[in-house]
Amino acid sequence: MKRIQLLIIACLAGGLTPSAPAAPAFVPGEVWRDTAGEPINAHGGGILFHDGVYYWYGELKEGRTYLPKVNQAWGGTRVLAGGVSCYSSTNLYDWKNEGVVLPSDAKNPAADLACENVIERPKVIYNAKTRKFVLWFHQDSPDYQAARSGVAVSDTPTGPFKYLGSFRPDAGVWPINVTAKDKKPAKTNFLARDFNGGQMARDMTLFVDDDGKAYQFYASEENSTMHVSLLTDDYLKPAGKYARIFIGRSTEAPAVFKRDGKYYLIGSGCTGWDPNTARLAVVTNIFGPWIELGNPCQGKDAAKTYFCQSAFVLPVAEKSGQFIAMFDRWNGWNLPDSRYVWLPLEFSAEGNPSLHWQNRWTLKTDKR
Ligand code: GAL
Repeated sequence: MKRIQLLIIACLAGGLTPSAPAAPAFVPGEVWRDTAGEPINAHGGGILFHDGVYYWYGELKEGRTYLPKVNQAWGGTRVLAGGVSCYSSTNLYDWKNEGVVLPSDAKNPAADLACENVIERPKVIYNAKTRKFVLWFHQDSPDYQAARSGVAVSDTPTGPFKYLGSFRPDAGVWPINVTAKDKKPAKTNFLARDFNGGQMARDMTLFVDDDGKAYQFYASEENSTMHVSLLTDDYLKPAGKYARIFIGRSTEAPAVFKRDGKYYLIGSGCTGWDPNTARLAVVTNIFGPWIELGNPCQGKDAAKTYFCQSAFVLPVAEKSGQFIAMFDRWNGWNLPDSRYVWLPLEFSAEGNPSLHWQNRWTLKTDKR
């Protein structure tokens, strides 16, 4: 019997027609469509789980990719900033577009949110005390020299978020692990240079601990060193306690999660949109010293992080012990066509996470 006949019989026997839709699954690197059939536009993003719903926030990247003159030396292509998009889902496979929850400003080029500026790596956390949804993102000038953090708040997860402004974090405060040498002004001492005006903050993420304390991780000191910074109880500002971590390692794209009392960070090296080798680190005290464990990726193309860069790690709610590592596969010359690569984290007996490429995969205890 021919293959096609066998297939039809198999489908009919299973009560399916040959055109039955495929079961929901994650298909890393393919175009992911929302429930309206449009490609999902939420890059460099993060996910908040609230009241049984997942909210995925990301960079809205639309229009022509161009190379601004100011970035020609290092090849930093970009699109006009579209703002922060939001999608919602109850199963992590089907995403409904909730619209742009923090739009860019097309009218005022002097505004922080001007589309000529940079709005990257948005993350939203919920503050149980104030009952506000708090959005932080990397706010920058077109040449990435402003290096600031922007903050916005909303009463609902789907916005609209009210923009509160931007700043350089931790102005006038030394980190808790500062040394006498760190305080000495020198040409290449960016920490001391930026002491008064606040520290440079580019790639960033937020992490809320079990005790409700929230932290910002940001690439600082001209991207050479990361800072982990406690936020105030309302999550709106730095609380004035921070530490330098991964000193001189040029780590960016931080994604932080906690498992069995240990904090883990997956990050990347610093090569713009080009992929490099991912790095994993672990610690029991969030302020460090963090211990680097090398590349968590295994198998083919592991040295290039499967041509991706880390964005976020999601602990899957109600699906005990599963974590999704979310990556962006940037397309530097057509940024809106950058793709999403989500992979399940696997854990060794000692608890160390690793990743393997999957063409298609589903959550383990999927009830559907
Ligand atoms: C990467 C960074 C991205 C974006 C890009 C711009 O290093 O992780 O978020 O800023 O550079 O070229």
